[in-house]
Amino acid sequence: MSEQLIDTFGRVHRDLRISVTDRCNFRCTYCMPEEGMDWTPREELLTFEEIERLARLLVDRFGIDGIRITGGEPTVRAHLPVLIKKLADLGVDLALTTNGATLRLVAHDLREAGLKRINISLDTFDRDRFIRLTRRDELAKVLDGINAAIEAGFEPVKVNCVVMKGVNDDEILDFVRFGRDNGVVVRFIEFMPLDADEIWSEDKVMSQAEIVELISAHYAIEPLERGSAPAARWRYTDGGGEVGVIATVTEAFCESCDRIRLTAEGAFHNCLFAVKNYDMRAMLRGGATDDEIADALKGAVHDKWAGHQIGQVHFIRPKKSMSQLGG
Ligand code: GTP
Ligand code: 5AD
Ligand code: SF4
Repeated sequence: MSEQLIDTFGRVHRDLRISVTDRCNFRCTYCMPEEGMDWTPREELLTFEEIERLARLLVDRFGIDGIRITGGEPTVRAHLPVLIKKLADLGVDLALTTNGATLRLVAHDLREAGLKRINISLDTFDRDRFIRLTRRDELAKVLDGINAAIEAGFEPVKVNCVVMKGVNDDEILDFVRFGRDNGVVVRFIEFMPLDADEIWSEDKVMSQAEIVELISAHYAIEPLERGSAPAARWRYTDGGGEVGVIATVTEAFCESCDRIRLTAEGAFHNCLFAVKNYDMRAMLRGGATDDEIADALKGAVHDKWAGHQIGQVHFIRPKKSMSQLGG
């Protein structure tokens, strides 16, 4: 590594999220509309070779040490293990976030290709509620997918649960028990204003404080070291593992953010809520040299803002939904 990706607030960036597709086999209400999503045409997606070139440059020049593959749903991208193998060769902490529905089919191949960690999204254990939330009848497949990830040897396996008041906030303790019983790390996520249907409102957000109060009324927990990760973490003092909360709305963690992201069509975003993005695909396909690409990436990180300002008058909702931004 010769340089760092550093912004004007002194934040050093080491964590890269790469979306490999904006497509998904689900239609979660907080992410996508039921119908009418315009998928990015195949030829407009970065190829595996293009992704590898950018990732290698970011690792070699700027010390990026963690890469997470996201979507849409990353496992719908054909031949995903081929990309995983290329990225595993970079020697980074390589992880994937998935809705879990196809994991039984691919978990083993992903593990063989060098993937280290898996996070699975699940918001309810109730079949009817699952159908309402995802518009798909695939709860059983997701639960089996979680087992498949454990069996394939991923460690840790994490389950992400977006908590929405009046929708699934009555299941928090069920998730806590599920995590403790199955040896998976459950993280509760505050509902963010990134849903395609624009149903988000502040009164639907179950706050970190409320979630932690509920858990600690039933289990003894104590806080763990946090670092730059979005999740605040606690351990059960009886040895039952750990639990986390991602509190983007009520306890923004922007001041310690070390994250950059690349969308499936090759747009570089310096923040999940960024309004502006940088077209890396045009550079890659226009014959740019590594030095030119590195300069563009450095400039894009330099320009990063202080934070998202959700809930304040200055907040600007991104035009893209979560599935297009890469989770
Ligand atoms: P770990 O490395 O296992 O901690 O994964 P992660 O939490 O970084 O990734 P994951 O894909 O599981 O994301 C969990 C939640 O964090 C999702 O709801 C994401 O949208 C949210 N998240 C991810 N990146 C960012 C970010 O840059 N800013 C904010 N505010 N939230 C993010
Ligand atoms: N608010 C919070 N989390 C969301 N996710 C998708 N949309 C939203 C939203 N509006 C979560 C998914 C998954 C991760 C990639 O992002 O549940 O865990
Ligand atoms: Fe698909 Fe994930 Fe969006 Fe649900 S949240 S529709 S699983 S991309």
